[in-house]
Amino acid sequence: ASGCKIGPSILNSDLASLGAECLRMLDSGADYLHLDVMDGHFVPNITFGHPVVESLRKQLGQDPFFDMHMMVSRPEQWVKPMAVAGANQYTFHLEATDNPGALIKDIRENGMKVGLAIKPGTSVEYLAPWANQIDMALVMTVEPGFGGQKFMDDMMPKVHWLRTQFPSLDIEVDGGVGPDTIHKCAEAGANMIVSGSAIMRSEDPRSVINLLRNVCSE
Ligand code: DX5
Ligand code: ZN
Repeated sequence: ASGCKIGPSILNSDLASLGAECLRMLDSGADYLHLDVMDGHFVPNITFGHPVVESLRKQLGQDPFFDMHMMVSRPEQWVKPMAVAGANQYTFHLEATDNPGALIKDIRENGMKVGLAIKPGTSVEYLAPWANQIDMALVMTVEPGFGGQKFMDDMMPKVHWLRTQFPSLDIEVDGGVGPDTIHKCAEAGANMIVSGSAIMRSEDPRSVINLLRNVCSE
């Protein structure tokens, strides 16, 4: 795919220095920031919510694009607070709502882009009816909840199917993506690449980001 974008996930960074870690990623060439929100209910882990996003926006200025990965039950609840806090895209899980259509509308009315995510166990056929109304589909390549897990190869047919059906849709992959697995993502047709530990644990994040972008855009 031409023009892949790389969005570091800061989940496995030093969360006590979140602002500095985000700046480090932006200085290293990140195209956007993938911010993982977990509520301890939809997934068995807790991270942060809109007050932290508001502080990050103040510290980082208006330019960086914040892709909010909302791993929460009742995603309806945080649309307005996240918009006010400075989020650019609200990516919710299809499994977390009974009314995706209303949520999509609400996200747009609050001035954000719409992302729709599916867990590994959710068939891509459930996402397809919404594909023409969203900006981005997120195909999870691990069970959501934790960074540093192993990439699931068998999610690539979902990406490939979406790419053939919806040529201009942004398709994001998230979980276990790094220099060893980017080829598969690129080949399947993903163009928004989330990578957490592979970038965070590197001593040279710029070179990892460049490598991911170059392989993906070949
Ligand atoms: C997992 C999160 C991911 C995760 C990615 O639930 O949604 O964004 O932090 O981290 P890595 O790249 O380490 O799998
Ligand atoms: Zn994520």
